[in-house]
Amino acid sequence: MKAAYINSYGSNVEIGERAVPDLPPGHVLIKMKAASVNPIDWKIAKGDLKALLKFPFPIMLGSDGAGIVEQLGDGVTDFNVGDEVFFRCHKMDMGTFAQYFAIPSELVALKPSNMSFEEAASIPLVGLTSLQALKEKGGMGSGSKILIHAGAGGVGTFAIQYAKTCGAYVATTASQKRFALLKELGADVIIDYRSQKIENELSGYDIVFDTVGEAVHDASYKTLKPGGVLVTVLGIPDNDTVSEYASGFVVKLVARLHNSKMQKQAKKHGAVYKHLLMYADGGQLSEIAALIEAGKIRAIIDSTFALDEVQAAFERSKTGRSQGKIIITID
Ligand SMILES: NC(=O)c1ccc[n+]([C@@H]2O[C@H](COP(=O)([O-])OP(=O)(O)OC[C@H]3O[C@@H](n4cnc5c(N)ncnc54)[C@H](OP(=O)(O)O)[C@@H]3O)[C@@H](O)[C@H]2O)c1
Repeated sequence: MKAAYINSYGSNVEIGERAVPDLPPGHVLIKMKAASVNPIDWKIAKGDLKALLKFPFPIMLGSDGAGIVEQLGDGVTDFNVGDEVFFRCHKMDMGTFAQYFAIPSELVALKPSNMSFEEAASIPLVGLTSLQALKEKGGMGSGSKILIHAGAGGVGTFAIQYAKTCGAYVATTASQKRFALLKELGADVIIDYRSQKIENELSGYDIVFDTVGEAVHDASYKTLKPGGVLVTVLGIPDNDTVSEYASGFVVKLVARLHNSKMQKQAKKHGAVYKHLLMYADGGQLSEIAALIEAGKIRAIIDSTFALDEVQAAFERSKTGRSQGKIIITID
């Protein structure tokens, strides 16, 4: 089968022939139709995560996608051959930029029937990230006031729609040219991060969802009510997550120092700091599929590339200027 991978950190993506994956018990083999680019894909290829996540070479690339169940491993009863599905793979077992992918069935969900494979492929990683950040870490409920940074990004365009379906009041940051789209997605307040200061515009918020990084933390805390929560998906994961993946003393020490600094900054503002490293979950993805089928969430696609063009798709993502998701189509 054709697949995308790297043979060393920092090298260009190679497209070559690989064996179709084995099918262990409990797994399904998926004939891939589309996958999406997430910044983690090119960050891994650059070597940015090598202290935390230890992958053997060649590193297969691609973290989520959509396709058709081709074969069932022993013991799989929740899917049938021919089912149209979408999924986020386990973070240590990537490779969705390929013609076939094998995955534990509990990480898979039926594709929303009202979405194409390309649209469905845009959802899993950003959808699960939004649900886990806002609901699990942030405790979002109906009426919560939420600030979502980078509303025009892959995560942001999903998170705004998701928060609105949950009954939240949503503020977001974006550049002017994104305002029309974000209004359409349901944002109640849009702040132009290039000309306005969030701390002058917003106050009394329950949750800040940070997809930009440490540079926005201080101002973000000023928008929170006492006891409010800042959930970030950038920077170093929390100490428990680091210990789960990394064994090195130095890595753990750097994480502890970083997290202690983050906690102190939050405390100074009377707020709570949380980091999320998202995880794959087929059950949560089914919940998201139901919202999509109810017409409450739609896919926002920035651009589409062929499997041979993964490197070009990475270059587009690295600009940090994409609006919604970048898709890889797979024949
Ligand atoms: N830890 C986790 O589990 C996890 C999960 C998912 C994502 N992430 C991380 O979250 C980050 C965002 O992911 P993504 O997929 O949403 O990225 P993305 O799609 O590449 O985000 C691009 C968008 O960000 C906007 N943007 C850039 N700088 C901004 C700023 N200072 N303020 C407001 N908007 C800004 C851009 O809008 P303009 O062009 O208008 O500036 C653009 O639309 C990435 O670093 C990713 O690795 C982490």
